[in-house]
Amino acid sequence: MTKIKLEGQWKGWADQVRWMDPTAISVSSRQIEQVYLIAKHTGLRNADKFSILEIGPHDAIMAYELLKRFGDKIDRLVLVDGAPMLEKCRGHLSKWEQVEYYTVEEVDRIVGEFDLFVSCHCMSETTPEYQNFIYDKFFPVCNELFILQTDSSEYRPESEEHGSRRSPNHKNLVKKAKQYFKEHKEILPRTPSPTDLPDHIKLTWAKGSPDTR
Ligand SMILES: C[S@@+](CC[C@H](N)C(=O)[O-])C[C@H]1O[C@@H](n2cnc3c(N)ncnc32)[C@H](O)[C@@H]1O
Repeated sequence: MTKIKLEGQWKGWADQVRWMDPTAISVSSRQIEQVYLIAKHTGLRNADKFSILEIGPHDAIMAYELLKRFGDKIDRLVLVDGAPMLEKCRGHLSKWEQVEYYTVEEVDRIVGEFDLFVSCHCMSETTPEYQNFIYDKFFPVCNELFILQTDSSEYRPESEEHGSRRSPNHKNLVKKAKQYFKEHKEILPRTPSPTDLPDHIKLTWAKGSPDTR
């Protein structure tokens, strides 16, 4: 697997957030919507035991809602984000012992297999090198994949200041998903509470086992 420099990956994101609409960083109602989508589109609902890896949880509202509803069956939930974000997560999730916290710099230390890889509005905001590093490290050890992101370059146009270093790389994601998972679907979600950022919402769902639901 290609080695990359993990230091600075999160800071690079944080430095660019300033030029984004602050409400686009994370909206709690949308994180709750994501729980509905995960329950609908993955094996979580029907599983007896389920492990999840989440990249980019921000303040863990989605993780909190997942644990509140499905905590009895979620036996491992691994969160990866920048250190300040993980502090928020720890604050919200302290009562669940099955949660593990890794900074972006520590991501190499994560071992094991997972039922589900989840990332919402995160991977498309990281560097192409980081996206590939994460996909190549984790897709082979995850049974299902659930990624919510935009594929619209309009959302994050190239700029003189930031170039196109961090950008939706949706075609690359789809290529990787097809490489590692038997089934691949792309869904424009219809949820109970539609978002006001429609171009930011695109669900890429891939799974590795036959659909028995
Ligand atoms: C736009 S927010 C989305 C937060 C949340 N998942 C949601 O859907 O509202 C992007 C998140 O990705 C995190 N992030 C940025 N770069 C990252 C990286 N290289 N690895 C993991 N997380 C990263 C940010 O700290 C932030 O929590």
